[in-house]
Amino acid sequence: MAISIISSSSVIVLVVTILCSEVLCKPYPKCDPDYPDYGLPIYKRDVELLQFAENLEHLEADYFLFAAYGYGLDIFAPELVGGGPPPIGARRANLDNQTRNITGEFGLQEIGHLRALKSTVGGFPRPLLDLSESNFAKIMNSAIGYKLDPPFNP
Ligand SMILES: *[C@@H]1O[C@H](CO)[C@@H](O)[C@H](O)[C@H]1NC(C)=O
Ligand SMILES: *[C@@H]1O[C@H](CO)[C@@H](O)[C@H](O)[C@H]1NC(C)=O
Repeated sequence: MAISIISSSSVIVLVVTILCSEVLCKPYPKCDPDYPDYGLPIYKRDVELLQFAENLEHLEADYFLFAAYGYGLDIFAPELVGGGPPPIGARRANLDNQTRNITGEFGLQEIGHLRALKSTVGGFPRPLLDLSESNFAKIMNSAIGYKLDPPFNP
């Protein structure tokens, strides 16, 4: 019985100690480790993977910028286009002002991602992107396995 009381109180002390050190006594908890002061190296084997991601960043940048503003990288950051063709069928979306603002922020962030990638793993011209309603409808039909009616429209 005595042992059990001691061990219960030890457990309570342990739990309080953990809570105190991890939660209660850390007013600004953050994820460790911190970013290093210097940039991390990009391993050679990762370069192609990051270049693949660059395609996606192109898609996201023009998708969000067009949705928010009705124009994209050709106006915001023509230096990132590298002579690639403009996207097919992209246009301004019918959004409320708050959603438009947030969508625009996403687009501007994608410009930052493209700049970071192109300056570290090299760039290539923007690929031809089909951002038309009909293409999204086709992709969504194919993803779910039947034809949606009305068609999907992002
Ligand atoms: C949205 O913003 C435009 C200007 O950009 C303004 O004319 C319009 O009144 C705003 N709409 C709402 C619902 O606030
Ligand atoms: C959208 O952004 C504009 C410009 O920054 C700002 O004036 C406006 O208040 C924002 N609208 C909403 C609904 O967040």
